Amino acid sequence: MVGNLTSEDKGDFEHFMLKEIFDEPEALRQTLNGKIKDNKIVFSEFKFEAKDVNKIFIAGCGTAYHAGLVGRKAIEELAGIPVEIDLASEFAYRKVLWQAGDLLIVISQSGETADTLAALYKAKEAGIPVMAVVNVPDSTIARLSDIVIYTQAGPEISIASTKVYLTQLLVLYLLALFFAQEKDTLPAEELKAYINKIAAIDQQVEKALAQQPTIKEIASHYHNANNAFFLGRGYDYPVAMEGALKLKETSYVHAEAYAAGELKHGPIALINDDVLVMALFSQDALVEKTIPNINEIKSRGAITIIICKESLQKYCLEYKNRIVIPDTDPLLAPLVAVVPLQLFAYYMAVFRGTEVDNPRHLTKAVTVE
Ligand code: AGP
Repeated sequence: MVGNLTSEDKGDFEHFMLKEIFDEPEALRQTLNGKIKDNKIVFSEFKFEAKDVNKIFIAGCGTAYHAGLVGRKAIEELAGIPVEIDLASEFAYRKVLWQAGDLLIVISQSGETADTLAALYKAKEAGIPVMAVVNVPDSTIARLSDIVIYTQAGPEISIASTKVYLTQLLVLYLLALFFAQEKDTLPAEELKAYINKIAAIDQQVEKALAQQPTIKEIASHYHNANNAFFLGRGYDYPVAMEGALKLKETSYVHAEAYAAGELKHGPIALINDDVLVMALFSQDALVEKTIPNINEIKSRGAITIIICKESLQKYCLEYKNRIVIPDTDPLLAPLVAVVPLQLFAYYMAVFRGTEVDNPRHLTKAVTVE
């Protein structure tokens, strides 16, 4: 028995985590439901003019924070709104220079995280509107926020968040496109193209899930590794952070994420043939910059695993351990690139014999600061 659900609720899956990863396409469809009408993004939850928002702050913890990092990039790139993002546990203790037109977005699966609540209170005390991106209906964060946008992922039982992360990303992309639409920051054709791509993203995620046997095979070879680095540039970097967190919490492997270009500024000293390196290649414009970083690591003996977009295969063929992901617009790639990292963390945990759905020392909602 996990939470209120019995093992029967896992269906044919061995663990909730695996079931929830395979629930992702449906969770995305549910979250998308009603948000696109006649080629326009609709957010009936908004209680004021979106075009009056001049600056956005984002706060969250763990996986929710990682979703926010992607959201910041998308909002700045598509809507041209400056975004500051903080770990909620730090936001509460720093001086924030609030101004008229600010909005705080708090992101939380449980809606009960104490650190995220503290960020919410800080904005409320300053009279700043708070928008919550939350999964659990009627949770404390949902009740206290001015605008609530629900991720429609359904209950997430496994402590390691997977499907909710994807729906958080989706909501943030939709918000970025909504702000772009309301502020008229994108040419109409470009906006329409993004809307069409995001409307079909569930199919790309299905294709990424089809890599399950390859990922399981790779994890079966390397599950004894005790150290891992996750590397990426641009949108791949926050995805690498999420991949590292998933591996740490489910399999207890020490894992760190670095921006691919940063490794040479110190951490490369740790690379040897005991280290596992997961490198992400989903950013067309950045791949040629990342290749030399990965080759340096490979030449120092690290076990290298490449997550490579179909159209970028020519850069990846020389790597024995390759996981192919479907072609996706670079801006939307996190929604697809994270899927093999989640599956990898899952299988590493299974092969290492950890308590996959209930890792040690962790709880689903962290209600203490
Ligand atoms: C995710 O896999 C973690 N268990 C954890 O980092 C979590 O995302 C974090 O505690 C935030 O929780 P929340 O989304 O419920 O606020």
